[in-house]
Amino acid sequence: MNAVVITGADRNLGLEMAREFLKRDWTVYAGRYLMDLPLLDALQAEYPQRLKIVPLDVSSEASVARAAEAVAAETGRIDMLIHNAAGFGDHAAGAGGSMDFSSFMAPYNINCLGAVRMVRAFLPLMQAGMKRLCFVSSEAGAVSVAHRDAISSYCMSKTALNMAVRLMFNKLRPMGYTFRLYHPGWVRSAKIEHAGEKPPSFEVNGKLIGKFWPWESAASAVPQFIEDRDWEDRLVLIDNEGAAWPF
Ligand SMILES: NC(=O)c1ccc[n+]([C@@H]2O[C@H](COP(=O)([O-])OP(=O)(O)OC[C@H]3O[C@@H](n4cnc5c(N)ncnc54)[C@H](OP(=O)(O)O)[C@@H]3O)[C@@H](O)[C@H]2O)c1
Repeated sequence: MNAVVITGADRNLGLEMAREFLKRDWTVYAGRYLMDLPLLDALQAEYPQRLKIVPLDVSSEASVARAAEAVAAETGRIDMLIHNAAGFGDHAAGAGGSMDFSSFMAPYNINCLGAVRMVRAFLPLMQAGMKRLCFVSSEAGAVSVAHRDAISSYCMSKTALNMAVRLMFNKLRPMGYTFRLYHPGWVRSAKIEHAGEKPPSFEVNGKLIGKFWPWESAASAVPQFIEDRDWEDRLVLIDNEGAAWPF
């Protein structure tokens, strides 16, 4: 049976990807960051054998190490790692005015360094399986097509993530690892607190903003992560509709 580790699986895209893998008979090690949010527990009630909840703060080396130890106590084989967790941080309006630079560090720590921490900690469990490393990035980190003008720690952290993935690709692809660098589309990610709760409408002035519900984006992501490509030697940022982005 195949096994996947997913970071930031408490809600939205992470939670819905976990559900997609469970529907496909995978074992899911779901990183829990939000201890009081019951959505993962509700999913576990549906899949008590194959959904394993693992406390995980990707910004903490100690937490990542503890999570890897907990998973290693259960299995010697993880097929796929998905770094989905993200911090969004503050957006400053522009180059002028005051900026709280200290608040800019969290997205870099979670989005970029979190990915590196996870790969380093979990690689020993990935020697024998599918060897697939997946990273949820964003078009927001793509330098050559950047259109925003606010100084955004989120955008910059995703650019850093893309570079970290490229460097890991250079090192690990020759060892048989395959990579997915993924933009999930503009997802309507709500702060849903209860299982079965209806997400807010995302309506502004009568218009629905965002393009995809988390479950729609997850249903596109999971096949892309599972299916082999005949061009694994190229690292490409692909979105949920299969389009390639420069990055
Ligand atoms: N939504 C979009 O339109 C969009 C577009 C492009 C890319 N993405 C990417 O898609 C992924 C999923 O995003 P989403 O839309 O589902 O948003 P989300 O609900 O905010 O998902 C990210 C999850 O990671 C958690 N997290 C934050 N810090 C963490 C840490 N230190 N360790 C572990 N988990 C942590 C978040 O918890 P908190 O909620 O408490 O922070 C949240 O549950 C992210 O990588 C995001 O950058 C989203």
